[in-house]
Amino acid sequence: MKNAKIAGIGYYVPEKIVTNNDLTKVMDTSDEWIQERTGIKERRYAEKHKESTSTLGVKAAEIAIERAGITAADVDFIIFATLSPDYYFPGCAVLLQRQMGIQGIGALDIRNQCSGFVYGLSIADQFVKTGMYKNVLLVGSEVHSFGLDFSTKGRNVTVIFGDGAGAVVLQPTDDKKSGILSTHLHADGDYAEKLAYLNPGCHGGVHLGTEEFGYPDQEFGGAYLTEKMWQDEQYYPNMEGQAVFKMAVQKFPEVIMEALQTNGLETKDVDMLIPHQANLRISQFVQKRLGLRDDQVWNNIQKYGNTTAASIPIALCEAWEAGKVKDGDLVCMAAFGSGFTWGSALIRW
Ligand code: COA
Repeated sequence: MKNAKIAGIGYYVPEKIVTNNDLTKVMDTSDEWIQERTGIKERRYAEKHKESTSTLGVKAAEIAIERAGITAADVDFIIFATLSPDYYFPGCAVLLQRQMGIQGIGALDIRNQCSGFVYGLSIADQFVKTGMYKNVLLVGSEVHSFGLDFSTKGRNVTVIFGDGAGAVVLQPTDDKKSGILSTHLHADGDYAEKLAYLNPGCHGGVHLGTEEFGYPDQEFGGAYLTEKMWQDEQYYPNMEGQAVFKMAVQKFPEVIMEALQTNGLETKDVDMLIPHQANLRISQFVQKRLGLRDDQVWNNIQKYGNTTAASIPIALCEAWEAGKVKDGDLVCMAAFGSGFTWGSALIRW
């Protein structure tokens, strides 16, 4: 079996910058509150009627493909990770495929939220290792801004999220000491509703296991969005911030150590940790817990907010462009998010 390596990487963020002060014009919040709790200063928002999750993904993919030294026609499999798809179905992978003119090859959508990129990387790794595909395009892309609650009611969620896309091309390498060394995936569905976008959905009012969930009297079996849900404004994401924070600071260090220990390595061996950009306070907590120096961790949430499935490839690409990820470097990626899902990947660049 061969190893899989990242042969090309790219990212794209929309031009429109929205600062914390811009948000204070539409909701009761402040630059101070947002920076203190999350580290975020500004984020990017896609342009309505012009951009979408799949179009941002295409822009990032084009850069990754060019840097991999191939053309779109050489891509033999597509994986698209997002929680904000253009359509309820079909997923974004086929939309990206059509825009790139590479119809015919397989196109897979995955729904693992903030862990989507790491899950996608693991899937791509298996395909490349076994020799099934030679140029897998993996995209993480999000347009959150079209679906957030910009009233004060939604402020705890809305201030955190931003739009953007990142992409990589995975290719086989004969060098068994480089490329993806291992990936580690986890989930715990007990926490499914702690960070969720429940409606529209097809649950038909069924009780799915938590006290707070529910439209138990809902008469429509398989309805997407009922009148009552509409009246209750049940079409926005909701988050129990403190529950997310508590689990994140536990699972990030755990899954990073799992990756290192699997490969007989230690935290001092890590040249660059690319954590999912959930919240600067979470990243700082993880850094401290693992005893990592500032130059061993890449943070860019200050500029982009939390871009969910796109955050790791955007951060990785920025670090690489800045010359902070070089040949031979040990790069660790780690993610935690809705599901709850979490995971890590260790790469020898
Ligand atoms: N601006 C101003 N005030 C806000 C606010 C905002 N954007 N959002 C919430 N508040 C208010 C609350 O209404 C509450 O007010 P009250 O005390 O009058 O009731 C107060 O701030 C504290 O709210 P709380 O939710 O307890 O704040 P917190 O300290 O837990 O911080 C988060 C909120 C969301 C920043 C924090 O919980 C967090 O970072 N969680 C992790 C989130 C995350 O990483 N999500 C992505 C996972 S991939």
